[in-house]
Amino acid sequence: MTIQVDVVGREAASVMAGLHRECFTREESWDTRSFAQLLSSPGVKGWVARDGMDLLGLLLVRFAVDECEVLTLCVHPSARLRGIGRMLMSNFLEISQARQSIIFLEVSIHNKVAQKLYSSLDFKNVGYRPRYYADGSDAIVLSFSEK
Ligand SMILES: CC(C)(COP(=O)(O)OP(=O)(O)OC[C@H]1O[C@@H](n2cnc3c(N)ncnc32)[C@H](O)[C@@H]1OP(=O)(O)O)[C@@H](O)C(=O)NCCC(=O)NCCS
Repeated sequence: MTIQVDVVGREAASVMAGLHRECFTREESWDTRSFAQLLSSPGVKGWVARDGMDLLGLLLVRFAVDECEVLTLCVHPSARLRGIGRMLMSNFLEISQARQSIIFLEVSIHNKVAQKLYSSLDFKNVGYRPRYYADGSDAIVLSFSEK
């Protein structure tokens, strides 16, 4: 398996939505229109991880001045635990715009897998959002900064 990470734009909205559907519940997943709108919005950048033509993971972030929000990250269930989520995040954290930003993200209090990934990348717990998700569950706010 040779994984490649590529920057993508609005043209990838449909395949990204397809992967998102495989990774999240129906309530949580985003459709093609949502991806297309986001990928056309100022400051939004997207990456995908692929093995040849197979889309295995995606990451979407939004930069605003000197802050950046991780909008979504996911890896296809059949491709998990092979370092792809870490690869997407590490690739993003290395770009100069990310290195100059304070990065924020929300993660469910129940999502121990993602919490472990972010904490291994040195994200720190900076807040709490009660009932943040559609199912009523709470989110932890994490932050990372090289500054
Ligand atoms: C979270 C997610 C992106 C991780 O992707 P992945 O490619 O499987 O992760 P990696 O293989 O790169 O693993 C990175 C680290 O995550 C943690 N991790 C990953 N899977 C784990 C598991 N099943 N149990 C415990 N820790 C796990 C480990 O710290 C791991 O590092 P290590 O292998 O050095 O111990 C993936 O599980 C996913 O898409 N989940 C559903 C969507 C989601 O929750 N997105 C994040 C929303 S905030």
